[in-house]
Amino acid sequence: MNQKSLQQQIKQLAAERGALLIAHNYERDEIQEIADITGDSLALSIEAENTDKQVIVFCGVHFMAESAAILAPEKTVLLPRADAGCPMADMVTPESLRALKQQHPDATVVTYVNTSAAVKAESDICCTSSNAISVARSIEAKKLLLVPDRNLGHYIASQVPEKECILWEGFCPTHDQLKVAEIKQAKAEHPDAPFMVHPECPPAILELADHICSTSGMYEYATKSPAQKFIVGTENGILWRLRKENPNKEFIMPSRSLVCPDMKLTRLEDVLKCLQTMEPQVTVPENIRIKAKQALDKMLAIPRD
Ligand code: 13P
Ligand code: SF4
Repeated sequence: MNQKSLQQQIKQLAAERGALLIAHNYERDEIQEIADITGDSLALSIEAENTDKQVIVFCGVHFMAESAAILAPEKTVLLPRADAGCPMADMVTPESLRALKQQHPDATVVTYVNTSAAVKAESDICCTSSNAISVARSIEAKKLLLVPDRNLGHYIASQVPEKECILWEGFCPTHDQLKVAEIKQAKAEHPDAPFMVHPECPPAILELADHICSTSGMYEYATKSPAQKFIVGTENGILWRLRKENPNKEFIMPSRSLVCPDMKLTRLEDVLKCLQTMEPQVTVPENIRIKAKQALDKMLAIPRD
């Protein structure tokens, strides 16, 4: 079956099932094309909670679908590829976090949404790349445990010097491999292009940035900036909407390695199959869900950076 007819079948079946199709900004172009909503982790969690639709097809990775299931337990949350995970989320377990908490009983645990529900349940508050600084500033405690991304943690620590920050040693394998030499070369080739970058990149890369933001922050920056060219420091799925919304602007990827294999797992065939079978569903045990929701709700009560 060709791509267009697959897309049509999906849209038709989604309408019959009363399903909302949502896709993260890193998904394949053909998936983003048919999504009702595309967005960053925070925006998609909010949409999942607020929609009237009873079925959510979450084209993204497991922790994102879990966040939807935590916020909207009465809805059916489908993750077209059950094996779409996040290696960074796997770098922290509830047991290992409990052990660190015991060493720092006076610290507030700030956990990036890129974590399992069980880890969120061990946390005081969540954050995403679009609200991390506001979340950190909102906390009364002087000491923060920032989990699990050391790069986002380092960025937060640099913005809230009044806090003592303890960083978990996790990282995103896609963003962490970006090299200073690659950015310097892209800047030398395109001296008039601002460099916008995701805070999951290493500190030495962020030092070269003109703008540090979440994936959705990049759309806003690219549209509002008078610049005609941009160097993009995040996963290459972002290009589809950047180019669609800014047809006369140019977007340069400084590295070929900015690809998240998990985000690329979901294909149109998987989306169609999951709507046909209503599987795989993502659910969270109620005792974990209630605690994880408290951490997410605290985050959602805080305005974006
Ligand atoms: P955003 O929160 O910016 O969407 O990023 C999610 C993610 O997985 C980045 O690697
Ligand atoms: Fe996880 Fe990195 Fe992929 Fe985002 S890009 S889902 S942090 S591995």
